[in-house]
Amino acid sequence: MNVSKLNEFFLFFVGLNFGIYLYFTFLPVHKRFLKSKQIKISNNEVTFETTLADQLIESVRIFCYILTHPENHKIKIPHMKSTWAKRCDKLIIFSTEFDINDPDIVALSNLNGRDHLWNKTKYAMKYLYDHHINDADWFVRADDDNYFLIENLRHKLFQYDSRKSIFIGNRYAFPDDRLNEGYMAGGGHVFSKKALTKFVTKLMPNGINCMVEDATYEDVNLGMCFKTHAAFVDALDSKNQKQMFPVGIQIHANKTKDVNYWYWNYTYTEVAQGSLDCCSDLFISKHYVEPEEQHLLEYLVYHVHPFGILKNFTEKIPEKVKMEEVLKKSDIISNSPQFVPHEIEHNFDEDEKI
Ligand SMILES: *[C@@H]1O[C@H](CO)[C@@H](O)[C@H](O)[C@H]1NC(C)=O
Ligand SMILES: *[C@@H]1O[C@H](CO)[C@@H](O)[C@H](O)[C@H]1NC(C)=O
Ligand SMILES: *[C@@H]1O[C@H](CO)[C@@H](O)[C@H](O)[C@H]1NC(C)=O
Ligand SMILES: *[C@@H]1O[C@H](CO)[C@@H](O)[C@H](O)[C@H]1NC(C)=O
Repeated sequence: MNVSKLNEFFLFFVGLNFGIYLYFTFLPVHKRFLKSKQIKISNNEVTFETTLADQLIESVRIFCYILTHPENHKIKIPHMKSTWAKRCDKLIIFSTEFDINDPDIVALSNLNGRDHLWNKTKYAMKYLYDHHINDADWFVRADDDNYFLIENLRHKLFQYDSRKSIFIGNRYAFPDDRLNEGYMAGGGHVFSKKALTKFVTKLMPNGINCMVEDATYEDVNLGMCFKTHAAFVDALDSKNQKQMFPVGIQIHANKTKDVNYWYWNYTYTEVAQGSLDCCSDLFISKHYVEPEEQHLLEYLVYHVHPFGILKNFTEKIPEKVKMEEVLKKSDIISNSPQFVPHEIEHNFDEDEKI
């Protein structure tokens, strides 16, 4: 199916999804969890079969946090909470005002608008460190128009050690020597527990490149803070196919590439262009997902399957990646015209290096 057909298909099912949305909204939480276990009854014995996804839940605890503002409390947040965000182990929504309708909203006051995005980002991370650092292994920052496929994110994160400073996302290059490791696109990225700890306790107060004043571009600023202090993991699978999409999937799958689009200069690692070879079967996240599309993606991912052609999947739990390998990949040279060649330096604590 080509991309434009796929779009028509998307639109066609928008209405249908509203029903699914209502269903999940009113389905109590404990029932949702039970649904993930299959119950087998034979010889009067009841056994619970756990899926591979279930097996990763214990060892990859995910704390999601969404940054939003009061205008979106009603129009965006409920759609995220009733779709992907319910699969996070913990969830907090950072805004600038509390909301009696949603106890998961934490207010960081006086920080409304793009001009305060950097302070909002820092204060959110400080809040997570102060109140929840031991509640998870990984901290996932989402915008209020992100969609995440949490099972695939768990599959990715399982491979890494959250006790090391690791920063995962769609990696961009930027022509500035304060940022020559690049940065992770806003609209969805992930910090290990150690990276969050280091950010709040060390980089935010005293970081050499870490901006103290408020600023607009939080993603660029995070890249500067973490420059030599974290391993940068570009979200690509073992076939070098993209897993996190800050500007959509179509631009990669499209036969023609619009070379005048800013994005191509920023891309740290190139992927196949012009077919679905661009993109991983283990998709993790997409940005610019409007509320209706949240339900659409939910429907396509968790409900639709093509009748009679299911492949015989032999999926397995992935291998752990050694820190040495993680750093080797973090240090690769980018083809981006914006990449600034530089001396590689790592400021890691002793216990992170092995
Ligand atoms: C932004 O944060 C810095 C550092 O905490 C603080 O000095 C500054 O007053 C904050 N600005 C705003 C507008 O909150
Ligand atoms: C795909 O390519 C066509 C030209 O063939 C162009 O008009 C369109 O904007 C492109 N779409 C995306 C999402 O890049
Ligand atoms: C991309 O980078 C090249 C080389 O620096 C530059 O000539 C070109 O104008 C840039 N393209 C865009 C769309 O920014
Ligand atoms: C699925 O694949 C495995 C390994 O390739 C094979 O042993 C098994 O028989 C296959 N099952 C079916 C139902 O085809």
